[in-house]
Amino acid sequence: MTAPVRILTGITTSGTPHLGNYAGAIRPAIAASRQPGTESFYFLADYHALIKAQDPARVQRSTLEIAATWLACGLDPDRVWFYRQSDIPEIPELAWFLACVAGKGLLNRAHAYKAAVDANVAAGEDPDAGVSVGLYLYPVLMAADILAFRAQKVPVGRDQIQHIEMARDFGQRFNHLYGEHLVLPEAVIEEQVATLPGLDGRKMSKSYDNTIPLFAPPAQLKKLIASIVTDSRAPGEPKDPDASHLFTLYRAFASEAQAAGMHAALRGGLSWGEAKQALFELLDGHLAPMREKYQALMARPADIEATLQAGAAKARAIATPLLRELRAAVGLRPLTAAMVDAPKPKAAKAAQPSFKQYRESDGRFYFKLVHADGRVLVQSEGHASPKEAGALVARLKAEGAALVHEAGKGLHLAGVLVGRLEDGIELAEVLESLAAFAGDAA
Ligand code: TRP
Repeated sequence: MTAPVRILTGITTSGTPHLGNYAGAIRPAIAASRQPGTESFYFLADYHALIKAQDPARVQRSTLEIAATWLACGLDPDRVWFYRQSDIPEIPELAWFLACVAGKGLLNRAHAYKAAVDANVAAGEDPDAGVSVGLYLYPVLMAADILAFRAQKVPVGRDQIQHIEMARDFGQRFNHLYGEHLVLPEAVIEEQVATLPGLDGRKMSKSYDNTIPLFAPPAQLKKLIASIVTDSRAPGEPKDPDASHLFTLYRAFASEAQAAGMHAALRGGLSWGEAKQALFELLDGHLAPMREKYQALMARPADIEATLQAGAAKARAIATPLLRELRAAVGLRPLTAAMVDAPKPKAAKAAQPSFKQYRESDGRFYFKLVHADGRVLVQSEGHASPKEAGALVARLKAEGAALVHEAGKGLHLAGVLVGRLEDGIELAEVLESLAAFAGDAA
């Protein structure tokens, strides 16, 4: 028997779930939770919600709605770990431990924070205007969510890869200082997540105001479907299903035979009105049983609360012993305990500097030079291919001693722009780390 793989997903408790959330996130996640050989952790990220939502009634309602949605869609709380972040005091405690090892320079580059700063600068404001420390520490809290349960895999969209990298970075620094306590998680990138088109054909998203709420009552569902934008082809005229987002929506919920039938019918001149009626019937048939369950759940918040409390107890059975271990490891322990130091990293595993290559959400290929102690020293420029990035890594390993740094212009190797020094890093440290590669066959 191999040990089960532990998978963890945070669900942001904001907004009312729509059909796009269902097809893109909820449905695949629930299917994944039924896979044998896995332990799935799903939690309501309500501490995270406080960063944006500061209306208490809304915070509470949103948590209720999202919990009811996941349960109504078939998440089985007996099979998975389903809990609310704010019921797990070990998470903020670990977040503080991590905050004390996290590099501020790394957090400066977190996408959400950087976007806020860039917007302020563009508007001629103070760079940190309106930015809370909560937003700044978002990646630290998220790292604690993951590391508190020794999760191995975290399924995320591309926009979240950076957060997982940071969780690894903080976990690695912690382990380096205090011994191997934390498991470094890996991002699982959902490449072919369904993105549904909204009413206007753009991606279904709250920010475009083009959504179909998942549990809209039938009359509203019908009205929304009627408002889907189509071309002006008349009844009887052949239509191009592949250019129609109405058909894309239909296909996302249809069986293959149903989809093929609709495809043929549209080419054969089915009217948009009839197609909309068919879409309504398909969606309503799919959603009605879940909607009914959702409404029953919403009417009994005490049941959901009890489910979440049971989930919290189950989750804390893992997090409490881990945090006990970590408190002792960092030196927060009874004064009567032996005054031992953290174990020194074993000589056999004597850490080496390394290059980490990866692909960013812009589709380009990057690398970092990472110090033996886990600190990132150099961040590369983006490259068109992994080969191109790899070739530069090889040159750095072989001819790294020739690296030069110019303030404001970054790092150059024989005239080629390599990248930039991380905040607070000196060129001397980089050269020292690169020297460790000299003589390696690249
Ligand atoms: N940041 C995630 C999102 O916006 C939500 C989240 C919070 C999360 N904590 C997490 C996701 C831990 C995965 C693991 O979607």
